[in-house]
Amino acid sequence: MDKTDMTEKRVFSLIGEKWMLVAATDKNGKTNAMTASWGGLGVLWGKKVAFVFIRPQRYTKKFVDDADVFSLSFFDDSYKKMLGYMGKVSGRDEDKLAKSGLTVKSVGGAPVFKEASLTLVCRKMYRQTLDEKCFVDESNIGKWYPEKDYHDVYVAEITEEIAG
Ligand SMILES: Cc1cc2nc3c(=O)[nH]c(=O)nc-3n(C[C@H](O)[C@H](O)[C@H](O)COP(=O)(O)O)c2cc1C
Repeated sequence: MDKTDMTEKRVFSLIGEKWMLVAATDKNGKTNAMTASWGGLGVLWGKKVAFVFIRPQRYTKKFVDDADVFSLSFFDDSYKKMLGYMGKVSGRDEDKLAKSGLTVKSVGGAPVFKEASLTLVCRKMYRQTLDEKCFVDESNIGKWYPEKDYHDVYVAEITEEIAG
């Protein structure tokens, strides 16, 4: 396997298989987080960027929309159960962060978790709701959006990478 292969495989497995937490703090200082496995890392507008896809009904979306920054957090396998919980229950119904046992602090306005093995602090640059008219492969409309609850895509500059 050459180096490029390895890097690509890492990103695919990091997001698609290991999953991540998307977290943000609103203007009142309240934080919420949810599990995500759709998104990516790349380069756009001359910057290192992350992009994530958030459905309209997610409570976390209000927080991401309210804030200028959000974080993406990656964990080792021992936190998989926590990620399953954060991806099943809504912060509307339970104090997920308290129940998760995670330790939160703020870095530049973004919530960061002490337990994460990698954290990306992200500054929002672009948001757009996916448009039904723009699907080139229309099979994804019926497959993923029977309720027409199209994701918003967010593209954000990665301003800090915290390993740890
Ligand atoms: C493995 C996994 C991956 C997920 N990926 C996404 C995603 O990329 N985008 C999204 O909108 N929801 C995703 N979800 C669903 C949310 O995490 C879930 O609805 C969560 O309960 C929302 O919490 P909230 O209402 O507190 O924001 C995923 C759930 C799981 C379990």
